[in-house]
Amino acid sequence: MRIAVYPGSFDPVTNGHIDIIKRAASMVDHLIIGVLHNSSKTPLFSAEERVNMLSEVCQELPNVEIRAFDGLLVDFVVECHATIVVRGLRAVTDFEYELQWAQSNRIVCPQMDTMFLVTNVQYSYLSSSVVREYAAYQGDISAFVPESVARRLREKFDNRTLVQ
Ligand code: PNS
Repeated sequence: MRIAVYPGSFDPVTNGHIDIIKRAASMVDHLIIGVLHNSSKTPLFSAEERVNMLSEVCQELPNVEIRAFDGLLVDFVVECHATIVVRGLRAVTDFEYELQWAQSNRIVCPQMDTMFLVTNVQYSYLSSSVVREYAAYQGDISAFVPESVARRLREKFDNRTLVQ
């Protein structure tokens, strides 16, 4: 059985991520989306919220599972009995960073291969940080994320405004 892990922060999941998820899921038997729960960072959404958003948008993909992870990616990959790590590449600038990690991860975990999927051109500009910035200023994010995610972003920033 071919098991792959698609790791990321997904803070929040974007249409670009979803495109990669669908394409990767069609190539493997089981795709585990690993949501990084990094206790030293303060993401906009908690790991639980990010897992919930991903679960909603992936509910029609039967071979996709969502799990949060902490610590090293290589350890999570071994725990998942996976041999493939999926990463999306938007531009050459992504490649330098990704190459370094793919190579060092393979030294530590030789059974693991990183599979890069080139982002579709219509999502090459898109990142979670772009989405967060637009949402923070009540910008139109309908082209960037599914409606269920856009709703959570609006709620998040409405609540923040109320707290201030
Ligand atoms: O969506 P991102 O922020 O680009 O994802 C980065 C991620 C989660 C893949 C990376 O930071 C990661 O795997 N972190 C876990 C710690 C680790 O193993 N780091 C080295 C490999 S990148």
